[in-house]
Amino acid sequence: MRQAGRYMPEYRELRKKWTLLEICKRPELALEVTLQPLKLGMDAAILFADILLVLEPMGASFEFAKGEGPVVHEPVRDRAGIEKLRVFDAEEGLPHVLEAVRLIRKELDGKTPLIGFAGSPFTVASYLIEGGKSSDYRLTKNMMWSDPEAFSMLMAKIGEVVRRYLLAQVKAGAQAIQLFDSWVGSLTQDDYKEHVMPHVSKILKDVEATGVPVIHFGTNTQHLLELQRDAGGTVIGIDHRTPFMEAWRNIGENYAVQGNLDPLLLCAPPEVAKKRATQILEAVGKRPGHIFNLGHGIIPETPVDNVKAMIDHVHAESARIRAQ
Ligand code: CP3
Repeated sequence: MRQAGRYMPEYRELRKKWTLLEICKRPELALEVTLQPLKLGMDAAILFADILLVLEPMGASFEFAKGEGPVVHEPVRDRAGIEKLRVFDAEEGLPHVLEAVRLIRKELDGKTPLIGFAGSPFTVASYLIEGGKSSDYRLTKNMMWSDPEAFSMLMAKIGEVVRRYLLAQVKAGAQAIQLFDSWVGSLTQDDYKEHVMPHVSKILKDVEATGVPVIHFGTNTQHLLELQRDAGGTVIGIDHRTPFMEAWRNIGENYAVQGNLDPLLLCAPPEVAKKRATQILEAVGKRPGHIFNLGHGIIPETPVDNVKAMIDHVHAESARIRAQ
């Protein structure tokens, strides 16, 4: 959940010299940033990269514009644009990311597991179609409904890129994979089933077959969690808006779940945040299969000390509860 990033002074320092994309393209810098949050005590490392990296080798250049977030230079909004997109092999299109995975694994030396990741076809397609971030996914939904065949072609192309990319990350040494379908919660169950699920299933089935645990994550997905479970994943991500234990019951207690502290609590008085974390941990009790995490990404304004205090608190509280 953006372990690294702007809330860390070391990261901001590095960003004075390099752009986000430059860091992603230089394995030794990606290594450095991946390691930065580990000193706070996280139990796993997440590869420093971005879900949008697949766009450039597909033929859609983009940048992270200051204050605006991602900007895709030529958004893809018709069949001609979709047909031009390239389905590439990860070792050829994103060799620097795979090199970063290998470097990080070597550096971590078996002590901390490394999580690789990618964006899911819907979430990546939304940036490609809208040209950047969107609040309503108007153009994405419009293509999905007005030309479902073209939309499906686009989803299949991104899906194949992501499938190969994740398999390559596992081959390079990633020990778990997280698939970010951050914006899929904007769809109804029927649209999810028809337009998204087949593409996501294909990716997850093949990645799960490698034997690494797969975390399937989205936000605003209270109504989609069971479909997401059916699409695939060893662990289902639950965002902070969703009642955790109820969601877990619905997903099934034989599944693992990840979540779900509101990331904004890390900007609140630490006593309040700690109390909420304890509530989650106590509700889970000794049941196995819970990965404590935020419900979504850390915001840049978060005080680092609060992150550190939360990690210590979660470790202490889970040890206390386990010993009861
Ligand atoms: O957690 C980590 O440290 C791993 C690295 C990581 C980044 N992006 C680096 C990054 C991960 C896991 C992501 C995933 C990602 N990227 C998602 C899915 C997760 C989620 O939040 O739902 C999405 C939707 C993106 C796309 C993206 N990247 C956006 C919309 C932005 C702009 C945000 C903004 O406010 O400007 C980014 C930029 C980005 N990617 C940053 C980081 C650390 C911000 C820091 C910077 O600009 O230097």
